[in-house]
Amino acid sequence: MSDLHVAIIMDGNGRWAKNRGKKRTEGHKVGSEVVRDITTFASQHKDIAQLTLYAFSTENWKRPKLEVDFLMKLLADYLESEKETYLKNGVRFKAIGDRSRFSKRLQKAITQLEEDTENETSLIQNLALNYGGKDEIVRAVKKLQISGDEVSEESIEQSLDLPTAVDILIRTGGDHRVSNFLLWQSAYAELFFLDTLWPDFKKDDLSRVLNQFQGIERRFGGVEDE
Ligand code: FPP
Repeated sequence: MSDLHVAIIMDGNGRWAKNRGKKRTEGHKVGSEVVRDITTFASQHKDIAQLTLYAFSTENWKRPKLEVDFLMKLLADYLESEKETYLKNGVRFKAIGDRSRFSKRLQKAITQLEEDTENETSLIQNLALNYGGKDEIVRAVKKLQISGDEVSEESIEQSLDLPTAVDILIRTGGDHRVSNFLLWQSAYAELFFLDTLWPDFKKDDLSRVLNQFQGIERRFGGVEDE
């Protein structure tokens, strides 16, 4: 299969830093380097077509202001400085979520990178930014209310930020939760919960998950073939 959609809840940055006597923000910094490495690996992997990463949730605004400010700056710096890496690896960047609450600088960095990479075809990397699965579904239904289109599974799906079903949902950091991530798209996703903290996550960990996935029979609510 060459069209897998892999989604990752990148959890454990804070604990990784605390374990080393560092500030939580240091974990986010190292976490952003892992984003680069894993995206590069995914772009070279023949089976992965889309990689969706949970970088900032609609609930993350509740964190201390210093941490939120740090994440906002880290994201803007990353998107502004990584263009060459995206182009070199053939990665198309898209943001999902409600970007309207972000600073002008971050909104501009998002739009610019989306435009700069729109012709890349090796991988689509969706970064979930101010994203919540419930919020995405509400915004999709509101679009249908405005357009007057009939409400159906198909029309809701097409109005989501991301209309592609998830095949593999990975969460690092040891918790067994989906935390409002891709609720609609993960209806039939295979779930993988790893104890590894995000800054320690390596391409070998992703390879292992992919190997395990290939051995799973997916029935999508049906029955086994006779
Ligand atoms: C969860 O770890 C992580 C986040 C809320 C932020 C994710 C951000 C990154 C991986 C880096 C930024 C990404 C880019 C693309 C520049 P946590 O802080 O909840 O960790 P904890 O559970 O150990 O406290």
